Amino acid sequence: MGKSRRLPSILLLLLGSAALVAVLFRYGERWLRALLLYLSGAAWARQAVTSVPLAWRVASRFVAGEDIQSAITTARDLNARGMCVAMDYLGESVTNVQDTIDARDEILYLLDCIHDTGVNAYVSIKLSQLGVKIDKALALENVRWLVQHARRYHNEIHIDMEESTLLATTLEIYRALRHEYGFDNVGVVIQSYLYRSEADVQQLVAEGAPVRLVKGAYAEPPEVAYPDKAGTDANFIRLMQRLLGEPARRHGVYLAVATHDEAMIRATITYAQVNHIPADAYEFQMLYGIARALQQQLVDAGYRVRVYVPYGTAWYPYFMRRLAERPANLWFFISNLVRK
Ligand code: FDA
Repeated sequence: MGKSRRLPSILLLLLGSAALVAVLFRYGERWLRALLLYLSGAAWARQAVTSVPLAWRVASRFVAGEDIQSAITTARDLNARGMCVAMDYLGESVTNVQDTIDARDEILYLLDCIHDTGVNAYVSIKLSQLGVKIDKALALENVRWLVQHARRYHNEIHIDMEESTLLATTLEIYRALRHEYGFDNVGVVIQSYLYRSEADVQQLVAEGAPVRLVKGAYAEPPEVAYPDKAGTDANFIRLMQRLLGEPARRHGVYLAVATHDEAMIRATITYAQVNHIPADAYEFQMLYGIARALQQQLVDAGYRVRVYVPYGTAWYPYFMRRLAERPANLWFFISNLVRK
């Protein structure tokens, strides 16, 4: 058996052992999550997992397809069910300048396709796909092209938030686009697991920013992030209230509450009702393939819902983060592999 053929079996063994440990020990889930997030950034693990054809079948539960056409078809279906879309061309942590230019060109073409087909979708991007880990100026230049192109089509670019080490630069680039270049079609993300988010939200409220509020999907040390769900959830509710409150709306903040957590969604709806905030003053966002019934229920109840639709061949780290969020997904993955 060659080395590359052995890798999937080794990884399977590793994941299987990790899952077993997770069951055996009370705190296994947190440990398993940390392991999966570590593997999401490990090149050897990417090679091992993506070489198993079945991995793509499992991953495709969360990814619309490998090309633009699949993403457009998915967007059209979601639009027909009353949902808007945030398109995401998968890719991150790019270390080669030409790859950042290629990603930019793909996203420019994506904007053309959205315009030509008339689907109701804006575009989400990651700065690490556009070169922020190589050179801040390169990333700013790449994203500036995108925001400018989007503006011609009256479309928007929303900048995902990645690891906390990129946070300051991400906000800096967002502010350069918004305030120095004067683009009003660009938005940013806040993660409730970070302690500093409260201060960031205060500033973004004063600036009237379009904000997507999420819990946070990366491995962060306890010095910067709440290590437990309770702390992250309590902060999510605090930040949601700040971003939806009267001062925020007066400054022009538009909030996207991006979560599948029914408790967070209920808290948002209750806060909006008690404070007479109309349902079109904010929107709910969820990831493609997750909580589909809940997405439809919200649409049917009259709420604005946007589904984040990723596509492309670089699906591995995105897929691993989805496994880390819910260990049951890992069982599904392993049981499919074993059944094969
Ligand atoms: P939580 O993890 O508490 O899950 C609540 C419930 O949702 C679970 O009990 C389960 O039923 C369901 N669920 C959650 N994740 C699932 C999964 N993977 N598979 C199946 N069911 C699942 N993060 C980030 O750091 N930067 C970003 O830019 C973004 N962008 C973003 C956009 C959008 C539209 C969404 C919805 C999310 C993000 N995220 C993100 C990811 C976010 O930080 C978070 O990791 C996930 O949304 C999962 O957390 P929940 O809020 O759903 O809560």
